[in-house]
Amino acid sequence: ERTFSFVVVSNRLPVDRVETADGGSWNRSPGGLVTALEPIMAINDGAWVGWPGIADHEYEPFDSEGSWLVPVGLSEREVADYYEGFSNDTLWPLYHDVIAQPGYHRIWWEAYAAVNQRFAEAAVRVAEHGATVWVQDYQLQLVPAMIRKLRPDIVIGFFNHIPFPAYGIYSQLPWRRQILEGLLGADVIGFQRAADAGNFARAVRRLFGYSTKGTVVQVPETASDGSQRLRPVIARAFPISIETSAYSDLAKRPDVQERAKQIRDELGNPTIVMLGVDRLDYTKGIAHRMKAFGELLEDGRLRSEDAVLVQVASPSRERVETYRALRDEIELMVGRINGDFGAIGHPGISYLHHSYPREEMVAMFLAADVMLVTALRDGMNLVAKEYVASRIDNGGVLILSEFAGASDELKSALLINPHDIDGVKDAIMTAIGMPARERANRMRALRRRVIEHDVDRWSADFLAVLARSRPGTSSSV
Ligand code: G6P
Repeated sequence: ERTFSFVVVSNRLPVDRVETADGGSWNRSPGGLVTALEPIMAINDGAWVGWPGIADHEYEPFDSEGSWLVPVGLSEREVADYYEGFSNDTLWPLYHDVIAQPGYHRIWWEAYAAVNQRFAEAAVRVAEHGATVWVQDYQLQLVPAMIRKLRPDIVIGFFNHIPFPAYGIYSQLPWRRQILEGLLGADVIGFQRAADAGNFARAVRRLFGYSTKGTVVQVPETASDGSQRLRPVIARAFPISIETSAYSDLAKRPDVQERAKQIRDELGNPTIVMLGVDRLDYTKGIAHRMKAFGELLEDGRLRSEDAVLVQVASPSRERVETYRALRDEIELMVGRINGDFGAIGHPGISYLHHSYPREEMVAMFLAADVMLVTALRDGMNLVAKEYVASRIDNGGVLILSEFAGASDELKSALLINPHDIDGVKDAIMTAIGMPARERANRMRALRRRVIEHDVDRWSADFLAVLARSRPGTSSSV
């Protein structure tokens, strides 16, 4: 088997397998994690260990655009208990401040631990001596300690793409100690926001009494000669980003610009195009933004002849009950708002339950006067950064929730509290009426930030801290 000096481990591979009657194909996976990691893999020539997104199928490792993909197979049962259950019906709602009620089921936990063990074993098999292994996200929080136990030579990084909750919420978790022990197996633990790293350090102090100084946690350990020592673990923020140039390059293309015009034509050339782009997830505040838009139509401050809200809601986790209920809720709202306030050829909300290729997304970003990011809780929200990266014309206004990690950086956006519907309505009207000069100034400031802090900078910062974390170990990344 081939081994590598750099290995990424994430629940999903960058491609999903779709089996069809006449064979099958590999398609791009959903979500921000894959978007962020793809460019890093392209430069590091490493291995990527992950699930191919389909149950009950085993695939051999294969080469894909310069990286070696190592599929980890999951059974139907494991998908239900580890992925849909513990990852997305326990940890996801818990870590997003209990927007939905987390389920605590011991069977799910057992499956989570067993699957994490399999990912750890798959990772160490392709890692050469002294390799760097970078574990990603909440689905795999036990993997760092499992790797350390199997292979103490490996330098281990972990990055949490979603929020880490305050102790009062985290402490609900029946397996709160085991999860922290799993994470503390890493040399460096990265979070999106300083607040997340702070919440983590507080949980470690409360549950284990370990001392934390600044960004370093001191973990007591027994060395191989039996002596006691303290092993430092770095826990701090590394805000993730996007491949900014990929978006600006697309935005420069004449065919993409032409498509942006065509989109406005197809929408009936309204004065105002507003846009929301999300996975269909209850953390994204889609209903809140629709409520605000619906009320503006009802109040007569907007008319469906002049304004349209395009809402792209890409299908996600469709077998989890809370996600089904959300889909029903959103689609009911779209029907109500459009039925009450739409006119022939002017629906109000143009609702699209699909995902689109990046070219089409950039054309939509260019066509949108106002971008609405109203997440109730979000680790980062890369869509906000994608919008900014695409607006090479310094046009468009970003309305951004302060509960999205991106708000720490994108301070020139119109920041809103999505629970405050009147505040969201006012922000929409402010965005619509904003003088061109102010709009351009704000967008320029946002663009500066996103250009300087792109995803290469994120990974370079993280990997530099990781490389320094183990004196004497040369990591060749
Ligand atoms: C978020 C998570 C990722 C996840 C993605 C898509 O961005 O942080 O870990 O991959 O959503 O969700 P899915 O469940 O389809 O992988």
